[in-house]
Order: sequence, then structure tokens, then C-alpha cells
Amino acid sequence: WVLMTTAQTPTNIAVIKYWGKRDEALILPVNDSISVTLDPSHLCTITTVAVSPDFEKDRMWLNRKEISLSGARYQNCLREIRSRANDVEDEEKKIKIAKKDWEKLHVYIDSYNNFPTAAGLASSAAGFACLVFALANLMNVKEDHSQLSAIARQGSGSACRSLYGGFVKWNMGKEKDGSDSLAIQLADEKHWDDLVIIIAVVSSRQKETSSTSGMRETVETSLLLQHRAKEIVPKRVLAMEEAIKNRDFASFAQLTCNDSNQFHAVCLDTSPPIFYMNDTSHRIISLVEKWNRSEGEPQVAYTFDAGPNSVLIARNRKAAVSLLQRLLFYFPPNAETVLDSYVLGDKSI
Ligand code: DP6
Repeated sequence: WVLMTTAQTPTNIAVIKYWGKRDEALILPVNDSISVTLDPSHLCTITTVAVSPDFEKDRMWLNRKEISLSGARYQNCLREIRSRANDVEDEEKKIKIAKKDWEKLHVYIDSYNNFPTAAGLASSAAGFACLVFALANLMNVKEDHSQLSAIARQGSGSACRSLYGGFVKWNMGKEKDGSDSLAIQLADEKHWDDLVIIIAVVSSRQKETSSTSGMRETVETSLLLQHRAKEIVPKRVLAMEEAIKNRDFASFAQLTCNDSNQFHAVCLDTSPPIFYMNDTSHRIISLVEKWNRSEGEPQVAYTFDAGPNSVLIARNRKAAVSLLQRLLFYFPPNAETVLDSYVLGDKSI
């Protein structure tokens, strides 16, 4: 027999960035972060997990290619979920798995991203969140989303924020074992549904410096990171929570853009410096800054993760249409700097 289940998990985009770990093995961050989860039908991971007495070892396929599960991140997630497994009964298939059997049974994992892996579009976030969620369903794990987020965190830090929709905060926590380093929902997806997210895919190539090694080098060498984590982010997180609560786009946009720019400044302050943005990314920043200024109030916020692709958050549909027109005008298909594509992160326009 085979028993299986499928889960679909969207990616999330940080508006207050996570960059830097205080514990590498447990993936504990040096500051809180806040993100918005994208619409599940757009950028997402779909993962099917199956169990059968015929499976001889745990195996995983990512985008149809087999990958190794021997790394600590996968092993930690599998171990944590297995240790919380419960009895499972499927009456239709006449299958009974007792709690204690899960230690001996093996799983097959088939995971598929509908967007480029490692192009700085937070694919590991959706990936590990989906893996943990699917395994938890299969093994009848009773823990709530916040507790599952602490397991997904051990796969990839940003993954803990993808267990919820809407606006999500990852509390850095204080405990040494990481038990209080988990995600909570600040507001659900209906709270601020005027916002439209557009991702301008500047390049779908694999990034040169992974987030994991990049942030390790930053922690080792950047003094600016310490200032950011201690003095800047705690105040910014409070201001961002307030902006989200009040649907205050002007403050939201200011904080989002400032935090993205400071994250990239911290990357530049790393030795050797890390460059994630390219000329096209810089041109998009200028375009948005000039437009926002000419309108008197912000129309669009921009944020860039560990890659050149820009995530643009428009205040409403009208601003989103206008933004797309501007992007097409400034980056026409026959020019040297062509954007790969536009991806709607949220609500079609
Ligand atoms: C720039 O979660 O990919 O996207 O924890 O090492 O797997 P690991 O790193 P990861 O880092 C994401 C960094 C970021 C900012 C963010 O999502 O908060």
C-alpha cells in the first residue's frame, strides 16, 4: 500500500528583512522580521509526500530531479516531524499506522516550484514550509501552525513565515533551544487586500552568493549589521506593525524601501562585499522613487531579496496598472536591459 498527501504553500516576501543568524545549526536570527505571504495560486511550492512499507529509504525529488536528503536541514525537519507523529488510519484503504511505526517507515517527497529556484525569489521559504506542512498532515501531527513554523525554520529561516497567509512576524525569540523563535500572524490576507504585488524578474539565473553563506559572512565581518539588529530593526518592526494595522501605505512603503536598502547596504558592508542588485535593479529603484515623489504620496514600495529581482507592492490596482505601463515603457522588449518577465504575486489586475 501507499498513503499520500499533497500540500501547496506560497512564498513570502520580507518587508523587514531577516539577515544574520545567532545560531547557525538551529537557524536563529539576529532580529525579528516581517513578511507578506503571496497569493497561494501564484508563486508556490506543491509537495506530495508518500509513505509505504516498500520504500527502503527516504527520497526526494525537487522539480523532477532527485536530490539528496542527507543535509542537516532536511534531516532536522524529518526528525522533528517524525517525533511528533501520531496514529493514522485510512478506513477506505484499510491502512493502519501506529505512532511507533513511523520511526521505521520511509517517505518519498516530490516537490515542485512554479518559479525559479534560488533566483532570490524565496523558493526555499515555500519549499521547507510546504515540506513540513505536508509531512505533518501525512503523519497526523497535532501541533499548530506556530509550532510547525519552528520546525520549518530549521529547514530555512524564511520558511517559518510561509505557514501563515497575510502579514506574518517571525519573533527572533530568546531561548537557546529556539523554542520561542517562531512565526505569528499579524493580520490575515483579507486585512489589506487593496495591495497588489508585482515581481519584475530581472534575471532568473541562480544567484551567486546563497543567502546562507552571504549572511554568515555578514555576521562575521559587518559592524553595520550589529547596529541594524540592535538599534534599527526593533523600532522598525514596531512601526511596521502599526502601519499594517492602520493600512497606512505611506509609512508601509517608506519602511519597506528603507529596510530593503539597509539590507543591501549591510551586504555591501560585508567583507568581501556582496552585490545582489544589478543596474536594472537600481534603475527600478530610481523609477519608483521619482514617481512616488512626483505623486506627492507613495504609489509603490520596492523590496529586493538576495538577488536582482524586484518585488513591487502597489497601493491599489490603479497604481499597479500604472506601474506595469511604466515598466514596459522604461524596459521595452527591444532594449538592452530587458526584464525576463512580470509575475503577479497577488490578485490579478
Ligand atoms: C534576503 O531564509 O533563505 O530573503 O535561513 O539560511 O535558509 P537560510 O536563509 P533564507 O534567507 C532569506 C533572506 C532574505 C530576507 C528574508 O526573507 O527575510
